[in-house]
Amino acid sequence: MPSIIAQPVTAKLTSAAIFLVVTLKPDPQHDDTVRALCGDLASLLRAIGFRDPDGRLSCVMGFGSEAWDRLFGQPRPAELHPFREIKGQHHAVSTPGDLLFHIRAMRMDMCFELATQIMSRIGDAVMTEDEVHGFKYFDARDLLGFVDGTENPVDQDAVDAVTIGDEDAAFAGGSYVIVQKYLHDLKAWEAVPVEQQELIVGRKKLSDIELDDAAKPAYAHNVLTNIEENGEQLEILRDNMPFGDVGKGEFGTYFIGYAKSPDRIEKMLVNMFVGKPAGNYDRLLDFSKAVTGTLFFVPSASFLADVSAEPASPSSPVDAPSAGTRDGR
Ligand code: HEM
Repeated sequence: MPSIIAQPVTAKLTSAAIFLVVTLKPDPQHDDTVRALCGDLASLLRAIGFRDPDGRLSCVMGFGSEAWDRLFGQPRPAELHPFREIKGQHHAVSTPGDLLFHIRAMRMDMCFELATQIMSRIGDAVMTEDEVHGFKYFDARDLLGFVDGTENPVDQDAVDAVTIGDEDAAFAGGSYVIVQKYLHDLKAWEAVPVEQQELIVGRKKLSDIELDDAAKPAYAHNVLTNIEENGEQLEILRDNMPFGDVGKGEFGTYFIGYAKSPDRIEKMLVNMFVGKPAGNYDRLLDFSKAVTGTLFFVPSASFLADVSAEPASPSSPVDAPSAGTRDGR
């Protein structure tokens, strides 16, 4: 059996990204337009990417729970569900989103061109819920001033963290992704002494060195997002990007987290928003408000390539499980 090629979930961090979230228009006559794009996405990417291979253009396409049912029906990914809001010390909202395009490149013009080409194909079939243009800020810092992404798994560890395997064989090579758009109150954050900021994050601000475990408070971000099962750390792959609009006083972090199961990301969110134990919440949230929250399934690139405009008949699934998966970078 041919091996399954994953979408470029584990693409290396870039200096530019566009996060595009759209919903399908209610009229199902548009669905064929969206399905047709699935099969053509790789060729669009090739055409634009080839103009500057060093630009490392990539795109990951994800599907929300309802959109999956509408576009593809059965079978469906085992853990796909709408993002569940969390109401704790802070509120993790759940917002609409049927399709996610996570477009990355070393140049914003390449991201922009791909987003434009995608929307020229499906613009009449969808409504844009959110579009964020993210940029690399100095040495991969967020706008709170901390280096963001250091503890991400790399190489095979990254593939292992994000890739569905035998546990859902019909969707092997796929991933789940949660996105949240955060807006920061920078004025309030900058009034916090750097030593206290470092306790909130769990790392040194300038050097990015991790604090000793004994020095970290229980509410440190890197304590609350450390999830273990049977003594093993359950990792996710993040590619957060700063964004903003200086004139409007808008300063944000676009959180994007991929994993082979959404459960581990949801556990991190509960720890952050409710606290572990309850009340011991993530102080980053006192300065960062989540204004969106959506969960998507990312099928393999092989699955996408096989989608045709017409709906698949239930007896002929568009993708067949196979033993091996490999990374499609
Ligand atoms: C305002 C939004 C956020 C900001 C500014 C932020 C920032 C950071 C920073 C600065 C680090 C330390 C460096 C690193 O290892 O990357 C970090 C680590 C981490 N963050 Fe976030 N983060 C945000 C939201 C989230 C969310 C929503 C999750 C998960 C649901 C998350 C999961 C993690 C994980 C797993 C780590 C690595 C912890 C470790 O193993 O040391 N973060 N984040």
